[in-house]
Amino acid sequence: MSILEQISKLSAEIGSALDSVEDKQSAENIKNKYLSRKGEIASMFKLMGQVSAEERPLVGKALQELKTTAQQKYDSLIESLTEKVSAPAVDLTMPGKRKYQGGLHILTRIENEVTSIFKRMGFSIERGPEVERTDYNFDLLNTPEWHPARDETDTFYITDDWLLRTETSPVQIRGMLKEAPPVRFIAPGRVYRNDKPDPSHSPMFLQVEGLYVDRRVTMSDLKGTVQEFYRALLGKNTRIRFRPHYFPFTEPSAEVDVSCFLCGGTGCRVCKQSGWLEMGGSGMVHPNVFRSVCELRGDDVYDPEKVSGYAFGLGIERLAMLKFGVTDIRMFYENDLRFLEQLR
Ligand code: DAH
Repeated sequence: MSILEQISKLSAEIGSALDSVEDKQSAENIKNKYLSRKGEIASMFKLMGQVSAEERPLVGKALQELKTTAQQKYDSLIESLTEKVSAPAVDLTMPGKRKYQGGLHILTRIENEVTSIFKRMGFSIERGPEVERTDYNFDLLNTPEWHPARDETDTFYITDDWLLRTETSPVQIRGMLKEAPPVRFIAPGRVYRNDKPDPSHSPMFLQVEGLYVDRRVTMSDLKGTVQEFYRALLGKNTRIRFRPHYFPFTEPSAEVDVSCFLCGGTGCRVCKQSGWLEMGGSGMVHPNVFRSVCELRGDDVYDPEKVSGYAFGLGIERLAMLKFGVTDIRMFYENDLRFLEQLR
């Protein structure tokens, strides 16, 4: 076999060897066998000494070509093998990644439930500002100068005339200034108090205020409405109880208790064995509140001789805490998803 024939045989051999390569290891083997310094192409170059002078340029050129083509083919092979490995491996047996789905905060959901129950009973929804005028928050609500709620240790003042409302009750005033009686609305929203945070105190929390003013509104209207509200929210067997109390803007005033929804009133750990849970305050609108409204309106449609009304203010967090067994009010506002997801 002439040397040129040997070269073309070797070229065919290397070509088919590289064609059948499937991984880097076998490519490496081929490189060692043919392309390395001690490989077969290198040995062919060593035979150049035996080649006659006429043939030498031809043989040299053929060998050089063999070497270049083989090297190029090897290089592109390695490149394509590398691409294969780094391409994203899709494992179809892996479970899919679930997208996190957001949802309404537990307090928003309770607020929505509360408003929808009152809407069904014919109440409309009012909203007042959280930055409120001091007189709306206190004076117009018949709150005396000496009342402890006015103290800076209880109230966040912005200036003497402006504060963060400490209750939703000033919306009563705003509602009556806006419309003549009869009025029947609730006002849910945030309120603020200068309390040190602890398991049962948060400087910001939610209340829902209610006001109904018309001719001949009585305390039994108040009781019936509050009763129906808690039945709709907590179940048909829920009972309520009024305990005499003092609030500046109502007379008479009462604190509202509901029968414990866990034990039904027999006594358990949720109600601390009393059978009752405190929910908020209520009462008949104080004539002084009506008088202030008349003065501001410049008319007498809210004359306490002509109309009467009831009002109430209920806490939202407490409801959620009791219903879901939450022991620390601050958890509602820390936005720890591990907590929130349990209440979805
Ligand atoms: N504003 C009172 C509070 O935050 C709650 C309250 C009591 C509201 C009696 C009322 C009411 O409307 O009649 O403690």
